[in-house]
Amino acid sequence: MSQSSSSSDPISNPSSALVQLSGWVQAIRGNNHVQFLQLRTEGRILQVVIEREKLGEESFKQLKGLGQETSLSVTGYFTDNPKAPEGKELQLAHFKLIGKSTDYPITPKEHGPDFLHNHRHLWLRSKRQLAILKIRSELSFAIREFFHQENYTLIDTPILTGSVGESAGTLFSTEYFDLGTAYLAQTGQLYLETAAFSHSKVYCFGPTFRAEKSKTRRHLTEFWMVEAETAFFSNEDNLKLQDQFVRQILKVVLSRCSLELKSLERDPAKLEKQIENPFPIISYSEAIALLQSKGETIEWGEDINAERENILTSHFETAVFVKNYPRSIKAFYMKQNPEDPKTVLCADLLAPDGVGEIIGGSEREEDYEKIVERLREENLPVSSYDWYLDLRKYGSVPHAGFGMGQERILAWICGLDHVRECIPFPRMIYRLHP
Ligand code: 4AD
Ligand code: MG
Repeated sequence: MSQSSSSSDPISNPSSALVQLSGWVQAIRGNNHVQFLQLRTEGRILQVVIEREKLGEESFKQLKGLGQETSLSVTGYFTDNPKAPEGKELQLAHFKLIGKSTDYPITPKEHGPDFLHNHRHLWLRSKRQLAILKIRSELSFAIREFFHQENYTLIDTPILTGSVGESAGTLFSTEYFDLGTAYLAQTGQLYLETAAFSHSKVYCFGPTFRAEKSKTRRHLTEFWMVEAETAFFSNEDNLKLQDQFVRQILKVVLSRCSLELKSLERDPAKLEKQIENPFPIISYSEAIALLQSKGETIEWGEDINAERENILTSHFETAVFVKNYPRSIKAFYMKQNPEDPKTVLCADLLAPDGVGEIIGGSEREEDYEKIVERLREENLPVSSYDWYLDLRKYGSVPHAGFGMGQERILAWICGLDHVRECIPFPRMIYRLHP
C-alpha cells in the first residue's frame, strides 16, 4: 500500500479498539461457519472475517447472500494475518447495509476489453484498475514534487489556443465567437517558453489533445503531458534534467507503490535495474546504423516507428535517448544543429517493454529569421505567432524543454500493453463513452 497513506488511516494504524469502516463488497466467499468478505474501502481491499458463531444465524445468512458491490459499513477489531492483502483483517462485530446491488455486470469471469471499456465507470472498481489509478496518482504527485524541489514555477497554460502548437495534422478545433477557430492545446510548450523568459525555470502539467487517427497501443486523443522549459539551457543540459527527472520519479513511485505493483504482477526489481544508471544516449544516425545492422531496411531520414523503437530499447535493455533527428521530420521550433544542419538539437526518450517514446524534447530555435522560415515551410500562419516571435526579439536566449506523456510512462511502470487503462476515462478515435 502507498506509504504516503495518511496517518489518520485506520488500516495503516490499527489499534485494539473497535473501528468502523464503510465500503463495498468486492467479493464474498467461504463456508457455512466462516465467510471472508473483501471490502473495498478508500480504494483498498480489506479482508473482513465473518463468523457465524459471533454474528448469529440470521446476520450470517444475510451477509453470505450479499450481491457484489453492495455498500455497507462494518465495525470490528483488527487482527494480524500475514496472508491477507493488507497483512491485517477485520473481525466483524456489527454491520449496517447501505445500498443494495444485484446482478453487477462485471463478474470474476473473463470479460473482453470492449465490454470492460463500455463499463469503464464500474470497471474503475476492479482490483487492477484500483492499482493502476493509485499509481497514477502517486506518479502525478512525484512529478509535481520533483519540479517543486528543483525550483520550477508551475505555469498553467491555456487549453483553448489560437495557434498550432505541434502539427496541423492532429488538431481539434471549435468555433470561437467572432474570433474564428480555436484549437484544443496539443502542447503547452509555446506558452511555457514565454513564461520561461519571466521565471527562467517553469513547468506545466495538464490535459492535451491530438486528433490522432491511429488505433495504436500508445495513442490517446486526450492525454496528460508534463512539460518543462528552462532558460539558458542547452540540449545537453535538457537531457541531464530529463534523465534525473525520470529516474527520480520512478524511484519514488516504486518505493510508494509496492503493493499496487504486486497486485499488477509487475516485478519492481526489473524496473529498478532499468533505472539504476543514467540512460544511454545515441544519435539518430547511430540508431539508424544499429537498426540496419540488425537487418532493418531503414534509410537515414525516415522516422523510427514503434516496432523499431522496441528493437533499440531491447538492445540496451533500458530506456534510451535518441538525439539529433533529421530536421525534416521534427517540429518547427527545434533548433538547427550548427554542426550538422540537416538535423536538430532534440532528443526523444524511448522506454523499454514495448512502450516506446515517452519524452520529446529539444533546444528551441532562438533566431527570429530561422524560426519564421520554418513556420513558412510548414505553411503555418506567421501572423498568429506574433506573441511567440516576440521572444526572439526581446532578449532572446538559448532555452530548451521537453514533454512527457503521463499515460505512456505509467504503462511502462505498470507493465501494461496499452495506454487506455492508464487514464480514468480514455478518449480514442473510437471511444467517447462513458
Ligand atoms: O513529442 P511530443 O509531440 O512533444 C511535444 O508536444 C513537445 N511540445 C513537448 C515539449 O518539448 N514541451 O509529445 C510529448 C510526449 C510524447 O513523447 C508522448 O509521451 C506523449 O507526449 N504523447 C502522447 N501520449 C498519448 N497519446 C498521444 N496521442 C500522444 N502524443 C504524444
Ligand atoms: Mg514526439
